[in-house]
This record gives sequence, C-alpha cells and structure tokens, in this order.
Amino acid sequence: MDSTISYIKDKIKEFTPEIGIILGSGLGEFADNFNSVSISYNEIPGFEKSQVQGHKGRLVFAEINNKKVVMMQGRYHFYEGYSMQTVTYPVKTMKKLGVKTLIITNAAGAVSSEYKPGDLMFITDHINFMGTNPLIGKNDDSLGTRFPDMSRVYSEKLITIAEHTAKQLNINYRKGVYVATTGPSYETPAEIKMYKLLGGNAVGMSTVPEAIVANYCKINVLGISCITNYASGVSDKTLSHEEVIDTAERIKERFKELLLNLISQI
Ligand code: HPA
Repeated sequence: MDSTISYIKDKIKEFTPEIGIILGSGLGEFADNFNSVSISYNEIPGFEKSQVQGHKGRLVFAEINNKKVVMMQGRYHFYEGYSMQTVTYPVKTMKKLGVKTLIITNAAGAVSSEYKPGDLMFITDHINFMGTNPLIGKNDDSLGTRFPDMSRVYSEKLITIAEHTAKQLNINYRKGVYVATTGPSYETPAEIKMYKLLGGNAVGMSTVPEAIVANYCKINVLGISCITNYASGVSDKTLSHEEVIDTAERIKERFKELLLNLISQI
C-alpha cells in the first residue's frame, strides 16, 4: 500500500480527493468530461493488471464543481477471476488518499416488476449472495475493525441528498435493496423469484464487495443502480449484455446530470 500511495501521490501532487466514484458498466464515459490526471491500473504498484475490454481501467482525478474527485473508470469484477482483495484494493487506496465519500454505481436487473429499464435506484441496503466476503483474511487494523457493523452501509444522509437532487432535476428514482451475485451467468427465473421473496429489488454482479470495504474503513457510501433490464423471468425476454450496455447508454446523460449535481451538494 505504501508504494501504491507514493506512486499515485507523485502523479497528483497536492491533490487530495474527498469524493470517490466507481463508474459501472456503460457509465465510464462520465470521467471523460473533465480536465484530469489519469493513471492506468496497469501501472499502479499493488493494482492487479487488468484486461477487460470495454473498460478503460484507470483512476481519473479531477476537480468537479469545486470538489476534488477520484473516479474509477472500470472496476475489477469477481467474475473475471480476480480475488476479493483485488476487487476492493482500489477502495482501500481511496481511503488512504483521503476519500470520505464514495459513490458506487452499477448496472442492475430489475427484480421488482414495477421497476423498468432506464430507472435509477438509490441503494438502501444489500444482500450479499456472492458466497464470500472481502474482509476474510488477516485484518488490517489501520483500516478497520475485525467485525465491522453493517447496519448502515448506505448513508441515509447521502440518500436524502440524492433524493433532493433527483427531484430538482426532475429525475425519477427508486429506493431499494441490491442483491449481489458472482455472475457471470445471469440468474435463472427461480433464483430471481427467491431474491424477490428475500426482499431484493435489483440484482447485479458488483458493488457489494466495495461497499463492505468502504463501510469497514468508515467511508460514507452512496450506491446508485442503473436498472438496465428486467431480471430473468420478470419479463418474457432473454437477457443479454448488449441490452445492459444499450440501456446504460440511453440513461447516461440523465445519470451524468445527477452525478454532477450530487457532487456539488456532498
Ligand atoms: N443480473 C445480474 N447482473 C446484471 C443484470 C442482471 O439482470 N443486469 C445488469 N447486471
């Protein structure tokens, strides 16, 4: 971690990011709009080499509406075969860089039948169905405690700010529970039925590892799901990654507007 931080600080000098943003599938373009310093994951000591297509895989540092922000353009997914340590290492890095608030975004399927592709959902809580936990292993006491509380992972204060912002911008939103699966296969209709019974509203393959680690190291978290499709069995349609990307593309302007305004209000 020391070499990770000194490598990054050498590039960003006195810049101390206070807000972190993880940009989900199809939403990475947001980071292209600013005068920024970018550092590829592949060159950062301690970051795993990434080979995902379609994701740029870099940290982007920019001042946005007078706030110092670090964005992850592309993330490590567990389904790619990365360890939970690799998936969450960037969050620990953000903590060490000074980040106090983390906005985690993702593309997700609608478990609730009243949700529609194109909706935005503020995450109120999650269900970890990944079958593992990013904090397994020796605890780093400099980051957090061995048995961290998870009663308030998603800051109510941030959700309230997000709700105000969405209302001001006339953007419809939902609030709900995000269920995380490992992927990469999408769910079966029976699994989605089960997630619904368990109280899930949206389903996806990311976010929960990063949210657990952020909460563990006392970073305030706001989670935003872009509902890109009906989950399996919720509609007659079969699922495809193309639909996920197409819907994310369709909502990206609204999403950008929301993020920009949120940043100035945090
Ligand atoms: N399931 C899991 N992950 C997803 C989905 C889905 O329906 N849509 C986008 N990411």
